[in-house]
Amino acid sequence: MTGPVDQWDIHPKHFWLRGKQPPRPIEYDEEVGMWNVYGHPESLEILADPGTYSSAVATRFVPPEQAKAAFDGNLTQVDPPDHKKLRKLVSRTFTLKMVAGLETRIAELTHELLDQVTGDSFDLADVLGYPLPVIVICDMLGIPNSDRDLLKGWADESLAARGQLTTHEGDSGQQQSLEDQAESAMEMGFYFLEQVAERRARPREDLLTKLIESEVDGERLTDRQIVNFTNLLIFAGHITTTMLLGNTVLCLDAFPEADARVRKDRDLVPTVIEESLRYLSPLAAGYRITTKDVEIAGQKVPEGQVLEVWFSAANRDERVFADPQLFDPARDPNPHLGFGRGIHFCLGAPLARLEGRVALNILLDRFPRLRTDPADRPTFLTPPDFTGVWTLPLRTTS
Ligand code: HEM
Repeated sequence: MTGPVDQWDIHPKHFWLRGKQPPRPIEYDEEVGMWNVYGHPESLEILADPGTYSSAVATRFVPPEQAKAAFDGNLTQVDPPDHKKLRKLVSRTFTLKMVAGLETRIAELTHELLDQVTGDSFDLADVLGYPLPVIVICDMLGIPNSDRDLLKGWADESLAARGQLTTHEGDSGQQQSLEDQAESAMEMGFYFLEQVAERRARPREDLLTKLIESEVDGERLTDRQIVNFTNLLIFAGHITTTMLLGNTVLCLDAFPEADARVRKDRDLVPTVIEESLRYLSPLAAGYRITTKDVEIAGQKVPEGQVLEVWFSAANRDERVFADPQLFDPARDPNPHLGFGRGIHFCLGAPLARLEGRVALNILLDRFPRLRTDPADRPTFLTPPDFTGVWTLPLRTTS
């Protein structure tokens, strides 16, 4: 046994989580027709050069017209120079000040959700992990409470349809999965189109109205861009912070000395959140496509190839992290790639960090003891590029 990950049902592909260093920083994966990038310096090199490594990967898997309809405005798929303009437009609405102002509301919500816990056991994902980020992002967007379940349903459908991507032609499973994801995104898109129309008629104090009003150099976002960006926010807001919170509690359970240290010294909460992002990175991989022939760590990669950049493997690179298999609540420096790097660095990082910090502090305050239940093990999300709990049953007594 090499560590706690052996006890968890995380995707078998993630061998680096099980104490093995990759044989080389990059290698071709015959099975899926993509290049796995595992190394930290190599990942940084790729993320820093969007001209050579394009993010417009959807065009490789779906017809260009469909990709345009579904991804125009989805920052993760846009390259410079459009990315700069788009990011500026949306960043104006998603400011650090606005996020910091949410702290009290996040704390109130966390308490309200945890008030439901009775008895000596509960499922953290169910009670707090899933509802909290969805409520926060819906509040920000100005979505009525009654519609939250509708949005969660579409996001869940899209998640359920997500599988391993492959560049091999004629994979009917992948085709179906992409169509299912497009279908739920489209339904959510129609919903947001109506919401946008309503805000145009009657502006409010919410993020949707701000997106409509945002202007840079005389340019504004189109309805399609607002809808696709909002879809991205719902998806990102729905699942990633959920994973962060669950993974952090799971790590503290697996490393009792870290748990004791954090409980004693709450100043460690921010660094524990960063260590959790490194140790079990919720978004385990990002995708890029080569725009010309390149050489990465001595390996020649032709133009038009899809790279799967494994943030989670880079986060265990022993060339960068001392004792990478150890969960160190005070790790410093911690240059993890859990939020990516470069121009696509996670826009929601300040919100995710705030939610993680506030919720973890309250959990530690309210429950002097939080342990996984040996008779009821956690389950994990199945998409191979995600690492996160789906259910996390906990006991509050021994
Ligand atoms: C981008 C991770 C929470 C919105 C990214 C990327 C990563 C990431 C790795 C870069 C992807 C790439 O380069 O291919 C995470 C994690 C989160 C989290 C681990 C929680 C722990 C959020 C939240 C939001 C959000 C709460 C918003 C509500 C975005 C957006 C982008 C992004 C809009 C695209 C930025 C761009 O392309 O310029 N995220 N994210 N994320 N994230 Fe997050």
